Amino acid sequence: MAFTLAELTPDNLQAAVSLKLKPGQEKYVAPVVHSIAEAYVTPTAWPRVVLEQNQVVGFIMGSFDPDHEIKEFRAGIWRLNVAGEAQGRGVGQFAIDELAKEARSRGITHITVLWIPGEDGPEGFYQKCGFIPTGEVLFGQTVGALQL
Ligand SMILES: CC(C)(COP(=O)(O)OP(=O)(O)OC[C@H]1O[C@@H](n2cnc3c(N)ncnc32)[C@H](O)[C@@H]1OP(=O)(O)O)[C@@H](O)C(=O)NCCC(=O)NCCS
Repeated sequence: MAFTLAELTPDNLQAAVSLKLKPGQEKYVAPVVHSIAEAYVTPTAWPRVVLEQNQVVGFIMGSFDPDHEIKEFRAGIWRLNVAGEAQGRGVGQFAIDELAKEARSRGITHITVLWIPGEDGPEGFYQKCGFIPTGEVLFGQTVGALQL
């Protein structure tokens, strides 16, 4: 199925904030409404929705902040939420590919992500997408990096 990436608009906002994960996954990522509020006050945030036939099936928020004092926060994935009913069909991988494309267009050579460890968490997904744990732990979360 073909996915597209889009900016937030008044038309897709309601669907974006209504996006539901699978039960039990809420501990791994903030609700979309929280992320959008953060994006509103953070000019370096890069929030986008993933659409499938005009339906919102995912949300990704990048951060491109080359001067951030913490180097792991200079370029990477800040949030990623895929609707429970759309998981396992490539939405997450698509969102990461699109974010990587944006990063490359900014001349960035590697991106990072922090994930909360846990058996039903996103670690296996990020590793499948090519992220390699750097060995660091920040705010109790595993740091992974992907060379572009
Ligand atoms: C983690 C998450 C983003 C994955 O999204 P998704 O759309 O289901 O993932 P995809 O379908 O693109 O999967 C890509 C590959 O990763 C694999 N994969 C997906 N989730 C996985 C997991 N939890 N463990 C191991 N592998 C996983 C898929 O099998 C697929 O492999 P394949 O290419 O061999 O078929 C989604 O499950 C989610 O929103 N989880 C809850 C919130 C969360 O944890 N977000 C991350 C915050 S840091």
